[in-house]
This record gives sequence, C-alpha cells and structure tokens, in this order.
Amino acid sequence: MEVKIEKLVYGGKGLGRINDKACFVPYVLPGEIVEVEIKKEKKSFFECELKEILEKSPDRIEPVCKYFTYCGGCDYQHIPYEKQLQIKKDILKETLQRIGKIENPHIEKVIPSQEPFYYRNRTQIKIKGERVGFYKKESKEIINIDYCYLLKEDLNHVLQGTREILPYLTFQPVEVHAYSSNQDELLVKFVYPRRIKRFPLGLKHLRSFLSENIKGVGIYRGKPDGTTERLFTIGNIFAYEKVQDITFRVSIDSFFQVNRFQVENLINEVVEEFKEKKYKNVIDFYCGVGTLTLPVARYVENIVGIESNPYAVQDANHNRKLNNIKNTKFYRMESKEGVKLIDQLNPDAVILDPPRTGLSKQIIDKINISSIEKVVYVSCNPSTLARDINLFTEAGFEVKKIKMIDMFPQTYHIESITVLEK
Ligand SMILES: C[S@@+](CC[C@H](N)C(=O)[O-])C[C@H]1O[C@@H](n2cnc3c(N)ncnc32)[C@H](O)[C@@H]1O
Repeated sequence: MEVKIEKLVYGGKGLGRINDKACFVPYVLPGEIVEVEIKKEKKSFFECELKEILEKSPDRIEPVCKYFTYCGGCDYQHIPYEKQLQIKKDILKETLQRIGKIENPHIEKVIPSQEPFYYRNRTQIKIKGERVGFYKKESKEIINIDYCYLLKEDLNHVLQGTREILPYLTFQPVEVHAYSSNQDELLVKFVYPRRIKRFPLGLKHLRSFLSENIKGVGIYRGKPDGTTERLFTIGNIFAYEKVQDITFRVSIDSFFQVNRFQVENLINEVVEEFKEKKYKNVIDFYCGVGTLTLPVARYVENIVGIESNPYAVQDANHNRKLNNIKNTKFYRMESKEGVKLIDQLNPDAVILDPPRTGLSKQIIDKINISSIEKVVYVSCNPSTLARDINLFTEAGFEVKKIKMIDMFPQTYHIESITVLEK
C-alpha cells in the first residue's frame, strides 16, 4: 500500500492516510512516499510497518547504528539533528495548540544537546538466556546489542562486559542498570527475579569485567509491579555530579537528569526565572536530589523540595549541607500530600517537574486558588503538559514563556520548560 507522509507526530511516527483514514508509519520523514503494510486496524487509524521508501526526503540520512529500527531505543537516527529539533518544536507547538488551547504558542528558545550521541548517563540492560541487550521496538523481546551510540563510554563497557560475566554468576539476573555521573563514578544494579543471598563477584572482578569506574553495586529483586527492592550493596553506592559550583550526591536509587550535556542548561533556564524578583517562598514539587531546588535557593528567600523517593530525599538533605545552603528544606512526601504545604507556606512561586503522567488535578486546583503567582513547569511529555496548562490558563494563569530543551536526541521524547504567571 502506498502512503504519503504528511508530518511526524508525538511518539516518533509519521502520519499518512489510507482511504481517508489516518495511518502511522515509523522511520519516515514528511513528504516521503512509502510502501507500507497494515499491522493493526483500529477504529480510527491503522498501525503500519514501513516496507519500502518509494520517494525519499532530501533530508534523510544514513543511521549510524546497525541496530536502528530493530532496537526500541531510537526513533530519529534517519533524521539530521537540526531537523529532529525542528520536528520536535513543531510537535510541541501543535500539541500546546490542540490540547492546551493556546493560540499560536511561541516557543522562544530551542536548546540543542551539545552532543546528539553519547549523551546518556544511564542505561537498563535486559537479559534473557543468551540474550543481552535492549527491548526490540514495541515489544518485550530482547535483542542482542553490543554497542549503543547514545551511551557514555563507560556504560558501553558495562553493556559489553555484562555478556562476559554471565557465566560467572551463580544465578542469572534479568536486568543490569548502570548510571555514570559527570565525575565518571559508576553505580551498577543487578536485578534478580527473586531474592538472592550472596553475589559471587567482588568489586575487583566487576571493575575488570565491566568498568574501572565502578564505585558501588546494588543487588535487587525485581517486583511484579516493575519496581525493585534493594537486597544488599557492595562498595559505595553514592556517585557525585558537579554542576558549576554545586555538588550533588546521587544514590544508586535516586533520579538524576539523563542527558549529561543538558543538566547545566536546564538548571540555568530554571534559575533564570528567579532572578528578576526575590520570591519569598517557593515549593519545588518532584525535586529529586535537589537538582533545581539548590541552585534556585540562592535567588529566593526560602525554598522547599517535595519528593516521594526516600533515597532522593536523603541525597537532597545531604546536598543541602554539602553545599552549605541554609534556606532550604526537603520533605519526603507524595505530591498529593505536599499540596497541604501550599496552605501552610503560602508560596509565591512553584517549580513542577513531574514524571510523564504529569500533574494531578488536585495539585493544579490547589495552585489555581492559592497565592502562587508564578509556575515553572518542566515537562517530559507534551501531551500531559498541554492538558495541565489548559487547566492553569482556564483559572487565570497566562503562559509567559515556552522553551524546548532537547534531553533525548535520536528519540521522539520532548522536554520543555513553560513559565506561567497569574
Ligand atoms: C522528572 S524527575 C525530576 C527530578 C528533579 N526535578 C531533577 O531535575 O532532577 C521526577 C521526580 O519526581 C519523583 N516523583 C514521582 N512521583 C512522585 C509523586 N507522586 N510525588 C512526589 N514525587 C514524585 C521521582 O522520584 C523523581 O525524582
């Protein structure tokens, strides 16, 4: 079946039409004419597989990775980086217009990643039988991968070494997670399908097999809900990140921004919003290890961070002391509980950096009726961002600025910063 691609949509696919019904095709570019096969027919659209490119876009480039289109990690390697940014900007704009009901949204700045490859400081390697690698596209099938162009160098050593150490392990793990800080301190998690009591290799062996940069290792049990339970650890399970003059401790179970070239840019953009006026009380919901809280603390009277992950809160408290920042407090709380703090603290501004699911209506409603005059919303999902922004603007907030910061080159993911003011 022949299809002309109109544009790319959120999720990485191209939109075309088959008998007036929308169809979605991966690994294409706008303007291309392609041969497709229908994989699934839904009520209002078709899911298609790309069979052949009949008329190629002049923008199309050769992907660098031999696994591209097989591995689930990348969507855009056939697109030059500049064009990827343009496509993401258009999608963000269109989503804010359609779902967010913002008339002609203006994205005032696009911040590219200094490197479009080798940027990731974190990976999750999947293991099953002889297979060591990542999930196949749109599947839970694991494919063998021995190199990933998105990963920091030491993480590729872990990827290659994992295959090598398997015969030395008494039981086979189902996943190996690795995180390497910008100080080249590497933390590795071995995830098992059940409880194990001992791990047969020491740090010396793990360093020889996986990477000299390893500082510590954690042994975990994977739970049916997808989370992990820490069983025991070996070595030091804290890594350190330095961004300008702030040092962040990040424990093996805490979140840290994944693109090592963009952390500083993200911090700078958020801090910028607190320079023109001295805000009295700020709440940073979803604060992690204090990545945004601590740099912003210097420009405001008081700031409070709220975070549900207990390890991240411990790190955040440690980081507050480590950097001698006094006007900051961190609370371990679900954001829905943190809503209560809005009444207690009467904040004049908030930072919101939620997971992909976005904000609950509860938080938005509370912010809307509170004393808060400024919202800085860092989002990794334009659809939930647009849904949430609409609820803010309906209640009297105005969108002041939208910036896009590309955290995930070669993939469809879109990160942005929106500033709203009452
Ligand atoms: C996108 S990260 C942002 C972290 C931090 N702002 C940063 O820049 O590193 C989202 C954070 O929200 C936390 N989180 C997820 N769900 C939460 C909830 N319901 N309540 C509070 N924190 C939550 C996660 O543990 C994670 O640290």
